[in-house]
Formats: sequence, structure tokens, C-alpha cells
Amino acid sequence: MPILVTGATGTVGGSLVRQLAAAGHDVRALTRDPASPAATALPSGVEVVAGDFARPHTLVPALRGVTRMHLVGMDGYGPLTTGAEILELARQAGVRRVTHLGHNDPSREDDDPIEAPHRPLHRAIENSGLEWTHVFPGEFMANTRDWAAGIRTEGVVRAPFGDWNSALVHEADIAAVIVAALTEEGHAGRVYQPTGPEPVRRRDAVRMIGEAIGRPVRFDELTPEQARQHWKDDYPAEVIEWFLEMGRYPDGNAWVAPDVEQVTGRPGRTFRQWVAEHADDFR
Ligand SMILES: NC(=O)c1ccc[n+]([C@@H]2O[C@H](COP(=O)([O-])OP(=O)(O)OC[C@H]3O[C@@H](n4cnc5c(N)ncnc54)[C@H](OP(=O)(O)O)[C@@H]3O)[C@@H](O)[C@H]2O)c1
Repeated sequence: MPILVTGATGTVGGSLVRQLAAAGHDVRALTRDPASPAATALPSGVEVVAGDFARPHTLVPALRGVTRMHLVGMDGYGPLTTGAEILELARQAGVRRVTHLGHNDPSREDDDPIEAPHRPLHRAIENSGLEWTHVFPGEFMANTRDWAAGIRTEGVVRAPFGDWNSALVHEADIAAVIVAALTEEGHAGRVYQPTGPEPVRRRDAVRMIGEAIGRPVRFDELTPEQARQHWKDDYPAEVIEWFLEMGRYPDGNAWVAPDVEQVTGRPGRTFRQWVAEHADDFR
């Protein structure tokens, strides 16, 4: 029986598909566009199917014959709002187990502007009648790919908060946690928070990229106002304000969780490893 992976063309979903396929599982990958380069690059043998969360009934063919699925909690750029409908279709199709990749800051209330759009999905999953596992990772190492164009063209990263310290996590470690939750017993009702094995300050991350590509990369530290301007075409205003508020607490994301090692039996990959694997993106 195939395992359905949604978000299969994404950073974590792509790694998840590859890990499941390499372990010999039958994988069905969902995408809005099976002809996209990311979808056609999925490993041969993976069944690629079309479906769009915005129109839940389009997932019915993808759910056929599926008992385990992975759900990425996003729709386009925003949080997934059709989760309850999708989960009901999944239940009707015979799905019994769901892993969920999403966002949660447990220190914030339900009416917090950043958290509020995510919480109904969390509840829908917990009340779905399925075996569920939430995966709420720390900041992705892969987010640094946003710097790639500036590094390639000018050898510079422009960002605020050089002292920002974050236990950046490798997408393959997040995916490995999800593989375990999908394929082993004992993960139902668990909330995992995968992080990397050590915190990395932003200016050190920039330096490590320079070392990996063999030429120095300059870090131009932006003021919060300069950052607002710099990000205004890339992120919604409330997300920019959230980033800037987080930046006031430089060690707020520095916490290293034991989850990757506890769930997978292996320590998490370091940022230096991630950069070595992705150096060509920055050249
Ligand atoms: N980045 C971080 O630092 C961070 C930290 C914590 C949590 N997260 C969580 O991680 C998740 C994002 O994971 P990611 O970075 O691996 O994703 P990603 O690389 O941004 O890819 C998004 C995936 O979602 C699919 N998708 C988007 N809208 C869709 C729709 N309407 N219908 C069907 N599929 C849709 C896309 O598929 P197609 O385009 O092929 O249709 C794509 O595979 C989010 O839930 C986010 O909250 C991220």
C-alpha cells in the first residue's frame, strides 16, 4: 500500500520521498503540477499524482488505497485552511496514520496573530480519529538559500541581527523523524520538535558558506527598518514583524532539542555538513 506524501516537491517532502523510496516503501507523491521540474525530478518508481489542498476533493484519487500519509500544513505560502476536510476525506478513504509538518510556538496563545492561523489545523488533526504525529521543527538550514542570489552576484548577505543564534535543522533530519513516525509504532500522539545539533549565529553561517565556496562572503547587517524594506516583496507584513520581534531575543531559537537523536538514533547533521552538500547553490 502506498504512503501518500504531500508537499513532496518541497524541501522536507522531497527528502522524505527519497528516504522512504530508498528504504523500499511504495511512495505516492502529491503535487499541484506533476509536470513541474521538482515533480519530474522525484525518483523513478515514485507515483506522482495531482491534487490541490485548496480544492480538497481533488485529493480523492491520491488517497485511494492509502493507510498512511504525510501532510504539509501549508497552502501556497499561507497555512492550510482546508485541513479538516482533507482529514475527513482521508479517514473515509481508509487512512489510519498521519504525520503533520507544521509550525507551532507553544509559548503563544491561540489568538496570537502568527499562531492563530495554524491552531485550527492542529486541532483538526488531533480530533481526526487518525493516529497523528505533529512535527514542529526549528528554523531550516535550507532557509539560507534565500541568500544564494546575493552571494552569487555580489558576494554579500544583507540581513538583520548578525548575532541571531538558531539551532538550524537539516531537512533530511526532519524527514528522518517523519519516516520513523510513518513506518514505526510508538509515535502516535507525539509532538516532535526537530532542531539541529548546535546553535549557529547568523554571521557565522555566512562565514561558513564563504569557507565552503572558497571565497569570503560579506555580511551587511541591516537595521530593522532596512530589513522591512529588504523583505517587503518577499513576506507578508505580519511575518516581517514576527521576524523582527524574534530578532530582539537573539538566543530565542538557540535551544537544541533531543528529538532527532531520540527518534532516529543518530545525531542531527551540522550546518557545516549542510553547506558542504549545497555549496553549488551559492557558487
Ligand atoms: N522554513 C522553516 O524554517 C520552517 C520552520 C518550521 C516549520 N516549517 C514548516 O514547514 C512547512 C514547509 O515545508 P517545506 O519548506 O519543506 O515546504 P516548501 O519547500 O515550501 O514546499 C511546499 C510544498 O507544499 C506543496 N503545496 C503548497 N501549496 C499546496 C497546495 N495548495 N496543494 C498541494 N500542495 C501544496 C508544494 O507542492 P507543489 O508546489 O508541487 O504543488 C510543495 O511541495 C510549513 O508547514 C512550515 O510551517 C518551516
